[in-house]
Amino acid sequence: MEEHERITAANLSREDTDTEISLRPKYLSEYIGQKNATENLKIFIDAARMRSEPLDHVLFYGPPGLGKTTLAGIIANEMNVKIKVTSGPAIERAGDLAAILTNLEENDVLFIDEIHRLNRSVEEILYSAMEDFVLDIVIGKGPAARSIRLDLSKFTLVGATTRAGSVSPPLRDRFGVVSKLDLYRNEELEQIIRRSADILNIDIDEASAKEIAMRSRGTPRISNRLLKRVRDFSQVKGTGRIHMDITNIALDSLGIDKMGLERLDREILDIIINKFNGGPVGIDTISAAVGEEKITIEDVYEPYLLQAGFIHRTQKGRTAAKQAYLHLGINISEEEQFSFK
Ligand SMILES: Nc1ncnc2c1ncn2[C@@H]1O[C@H](COP(=O)(O)OP(=O)(O)O)[C@@H](O)[C@H]1O
Ligand SMILES: [Mg+2]
Repeated sequence: MEEHERITAANLSREDTDTEISLRPKYLSEYIGQKNATENLKIFIDAARMRSEPLDHVLFYGPPGLGKTTLAGIIANEMNVKIKVTSGPAIERAGDLAAILTNLEENDVLFIDEIHRLNRSVEEILYSAMEDFVLDIVIGKGPAARSIRLDLSKFTLVGATTRAGSVSPPLRDRFGVVSKLDLYRNEELEQIIRRSADILNIDIDEASAKEIAMRSRGTPRISNRLLKRVRDFSQVKGTGRIHMDITNIALDSLGIDKMGLERLDREILDIIINKFNGGPVGIDTISAAVGEEKITIEDVYEPYLLQAGFIHRTQKGRTAAKQAYLHLGINISEEEQFSFK
C-alpha cells in the first residue's frame, strides 16, 4: 500500500470528506468522550450566551483525527453564529488575514486549523485582533508610511494544532481556553462506530464494533474509515451485514493487527528492539531508519505507541516496552527481562 493512502493515516483523506460532513457531531450533546474538554467548554459557552458575548478564544491541541475541527463547528452551532474556516498555511499575507477579520460579524467564530503554521507577520496582526478587536495596519512604505487602526466585530478565534509546542508563547497566551484532546478509550470509539453505522445505515453486530474500536488506535477518524472499509468487504464478500468473520478478514487484509498497529508501527518497534537493543534511540535515528518524517512519527505514530504502552519516552530517546517484545513475538533474555520495571 502506498504511504500516502495508508488506512490508519490519521490525516483527512479525500475519501473521508464526503462522509465526514454527515458523521460530524453538530452539538455538544452528540459529541462522545473528551469529557475534560467538553464539560468546561459547555460552561463557558453557556456563560457567554447568557451575557450575549462571544466565547473566549479557544485553542485545541492533540493528534490528528480526534475531533478538533468538529469542536470548532460545535462551538459555532452552540453559540448560534457563523463560522469562517481557514488554516495557518492558507493565510499567506497579513492582508489576507485582514480581509478575513474585517468580514467577520459580531460573535462569529474564526477557525484557524494548523495555527502553528501561521507566518510571523500574519501572526502579529492577530495579537491586537484577539486582544482588543482592532486591526493595526501600515499603509505605504518608508517615511510616508503610516499606521491606521480599524475596529473589528467581536469574534471568537478557535485555533487547532497537532503541536502545542510549536505555537509561539505570545499567541498561546492570548487564548482564554487551552484544551488538550486525548486519544479515545475503546468504549468511546465503540459508541462512535455505532453512531456512524446508524447514520450510514450500516448493519453491524456488537462484537464487530468492539473489534473495529480496538484497532482504531484511539482515533475516531480511523474508526469511521475502518467501518466503511469493513462495509465494503461485507457487501462484496458477505451479505452486507457486518459480523466478526468479515470484520477480521477486512481488517487483516488492510494490514492492521489486533492492536491497531500497521506496518510502520511494527517497523518502528522492530528498529528499536533489533537494531538498537531496545533503545534508547533518538527520534531522528528512528525517522531515518523507517524513512518517515520526524514530525509524522511524533504526531501520528508515537502518541498511540506511547499510550498503548509499546514504547517509553526518556531523556535519551525512545525505548521499547516489554509489551512491544511480546507483541512482535520476540523473546526477552533474562538479562533484559531484569531491566524492565
Ligand atoms: N467526539 C466525537 N464523537 C463522534 N465523532 C467524532 C468525535 N470526534 C471526532 N469524530 C469523528 O471523527 C472525524 C474526525 O474529526 P475531526 O474533527 O476532523 O478531527 P481533527 O480536526 O482533530 O483532525 C469527524 O468527522 C467525526 O466524524
Ligand atoms: Mg481538523
